[in-house]
Amino acid sequence: MENVNLSVKIGDLYLDNPVMPASGAFGIEMESLFDFNNLGAVVPKSITKYPRGGNATPRVCEVTGGMINSIGIQSKGLEYYMEHTISAYQQYKTPLIASISADSVDEFVEMTRIIGNDPGVSAIELNISCPNLKGDGKAFGMDADLSYELLKKVRVVTELPIIAKLTPNVTSIQEIALACEKGGADGLNVANTLLGMAIDIHTHKPKIGNVLGGVSGPAVKPIIVRMIHQVRGVTDLPIIGCGGVMNYEDAIEMIIAGANAIQVGTASFINPMAMMEILDGIKEYLVTHKIKDINDLVGTVELAN
Ligand SMILES: Cc1cc2nc3c(=O)[nH]c(=O)nc-3n(C[C@H](O)[C@H](O)[C@H](O)COP(=O)(O)O)c2cc1C
Repeated sequence: MENVNLSVKIGDLYLDNPVMPASGAFGIEMESLFDFNNLGAVVPKSITKYPRGGNATPRVCEVTGGMINSIGIQSKGLEYYMEHTISAYQQYKTPLIASISADSVDEFVEMTRIIGNDPGVSAIELNISCPNLKGDGKAFGMDADLSYELLKKVRVVTELPIIAKLTPNVTSIQEIALACEKGGADGLNVANTLLGMAIDIHTHKPKIGNVLGGVSGPAVKPIIVRMIHQVRGVTDLPIIGCGGVMNYEDAIEMIIAGANAIQVGTASFINPMAMMEILDGIKEYLVTHKIKDINDLVGTVELAN
């Protein structure tokens, strides 16, 4: 196949290609299925400071065009992550992006100081879509001032690129994106899951133990494409598109909307080879359309005047 440039940059970090897993939909157990060296980055499940059991079951259910999950960041804690998770990926040349969840700004800072100075980690993804226990239970990423404060404080404790993973459950995603940029984010992940609910009509009970959960999969893609387009309209920061990428066409659509890279979650549950197939499809698309550099495709949506 003809040579095309697939390499993308987030802050100072170069990725060989723009395809990576979404946190929570990927783990070291997938290494028997394909070569992780072919991924743009590896992104293990969000880590919390202390071990956590996760939410009440059932934690996942299928809905039309996707799924709802409310895992509750089941986690073995920071110590385990530092000792075992990071080292498990060291045999691969692929950069590791560590996703962090925390209950407070101070906890985010403390965790970033520790993880963000480990040589096995190449970038930090802040899961600011998780609830802020000190406030009113809203996610950090629902509050522009809090997002700014968080990014500003985290920015100074690591040299690594920092990606803010935004929540789509907001009125203006642009406002939060700009707050994160002002605070010092090097990249934005657009976005986490959309808050949803499903009810069993025979038992009248919610299908998720925690009642509400996050919707992911094809159902959310148009919303995410819209948000990527909106965020691209206000910032030049690298954007990672995430939500409903099932095939290479979805990935290309997000890149045309303004994403520099994409993450794949739900698709991997259906087909663990999805990321490899998406990468192959992106390459083929570039060759077919005679685009030598994937970066030339970013934000090329043509709007009517
Ligand atoms: C089972 C499951 C667990 C998830 N866990 C996390 C997590 O720990 N941290 C996080 O930032 N996002 C988490 N997510 C959200 C995904 O990373 C992603 O943002 C979302 O699923 C949308 O992408 P998709 O439509 O490709 O799945 C999880 C999603 C699923 C389905």
